[in-house]
Amino acid sequence: MASIYFDHAATTPMIPEAAAAYAEAAGAGLGNPSSLHAFGRAARSRVTAARDALADLLGCSAAELVFTGSGTESDNAALFGAAEAQRARGRTGIVTTSVEHHAVLNACLQLEKRGFRLTLLPADETGRVSAADASAAIDETTAVVSVMAGNNETGTLQPYAEIGDIARERGAVMHVDAVQAFGYERWDLKRLPIDMLSLSAHKINGPQGVGLLYVRRGTPFQPLLFGGTQERARRAGTENVPGIAAFAEAAKIAFRDMDARIRLVEDVRDAFLNALRTDLGEEAFRLNGHAELRLPHIANLSFPGITSENMLMNLDLAGVAASGGSACTSGSLQPSHVLTAMRLPPERLQSAVRFSFGMGNTRQEAEKTAKIIATISARLRIS
Ligand SMILES: Cc1ncc(COP(=O)(O)O)c(C=O)c1O
Repeated sequence: MASIYFDHAATTPMIPEAAAAYAEAAGAGLGNPSSLHAFGRAARSRVTAARDALADLLGCSAAELVFTGSGTESDNAALFGAAEAQRARGRTGIVTTSVEHHAVLNACLQLEKRGFRLTLLPADETGRVSAADASAAIDETTAVVSVMAGNNETGTLQPYAEIGDIARERGAVMHVDAVQAFGYERWDLKRLPIDMLSLSAHKINGPQGVGLLYVRRGTPFQPLLFGGTQERARRAGTENVPGIAAFAEAAKIAFRDMDARIRLVEDVRDAFLNALRTDLGEEAFRLNGHAELRLPHIANLSFPGITSENMLMNLDLAGVAASGGSACTSGSLQPSHVLTAMRLPPERLQSAVRFSFGMGNTRQEAEKTAKIIATISARLRIS
C-alpha cells in the first residue's frame, strides 16, 4: 500500500543535499569546534560558514544568531533569557497569545510561576489576535511580548510586525516564534520590529534537533544554559556541527526555491479541497483558521460527526499520515487549545484533522486522499 505523508507541519524529511552535508561533516575528521587543532578549526569553519549563510538569508549579522537544539529550546531561551534580564530592570509582564505552540505557552506559564504577570491575547474565530488587544495589554512594565508568525495547527498568520512596533515603542522585547512559517516567508530582520526570532531546521527539510535563535544586538538576554563560552556564551554546549551544516544547506535551498515550493503546496492543498468538495460534498467538512491570511501548507479541517481519533486511525490504516493538532497534543484526547481559543463549536473541535503538505507531495496524492476520506466517512456515518 502506498503511503501518503500529509504531516509536514510535524516534521519534514531531510533533502538529499542536507543529508549529504550532514554525512560529510559527521564523517572522519570531525573535530570539536572549540579545539584549537586543525580538526577543531575545520569544524569551527563549518559552523561559521553555516552561520554566515543563515545570516545572509535572514538579513541580520552572523553574531546575532545562536544555534540551539530545537525550536522549543529557541523559544525557551528567548522567553526566559529576555524575561529574566528585563526583570532586573523592573519589568515583570509577559504578553503572548492564547494560540501559541506549547513551547511558548508552557514556558510562559513557568515564568508566571516565577512571579511574572502573564496576559494571553484572545484570538477571533479565525485564530487571529488583534494589534488593538496587544496595544491595550503592553505597557511600560512589560518585559517580553511573544507572538507567532504562523500557527502550526491552522496556519493562521498573526500581525506580529504591527505588534512588534507597539512592543518596541514601549520598551518591551519582541519575540516571534517563526518555526512554522519558516520556508514560507522571507524576513529582513534588520528592518523588522523583532528582537528575537525562533526557527527550527526540521521544518524545512533539514535535520531534527537543530534550532536557531536570532537575538538582535543589544537585546537584554540571559543564557538558559551555563558551561563553556560557545555561541558567545549565549548557549553553552558543543555545537551540533553536522546538524548545523545540514541546516544551512536546507535553508539555502528552501529560500532559493521558496516561490516554487509555495506554488507546489498551494496546488496540492487546492486539489485536496476541490476533490473533497466533489467526493465528500461541501457540507461535510469545514476549514478551520483564516481563509486567506494563512500559511499555504496547512489545511485544518473538521468533519462533523466523525471524531478526530476515528478519522486519523482510519486514514492511517489506509496509508495516509495526518495529525490531530500539534504533535505534542495528538495521541491525547484533549481538544486542541488553539481551536478551543477560537471558540469553535464542540462538533468542530472534536472532529478536527490537520493535513500539512510539503516537498514530494502531488495532486494525485491529494485526490486519492479525498477519495479515501469519502469512503471512511460513508462507512463511519452508517455504522
Ligand atoms: C510554531 C512552533 N513552535 C515551536 C515548535 C517546536 O519546534 P521543535 O520541534 O524544533 O522543538 C514547533 C514544532 O512543531 C512549532 O510548530
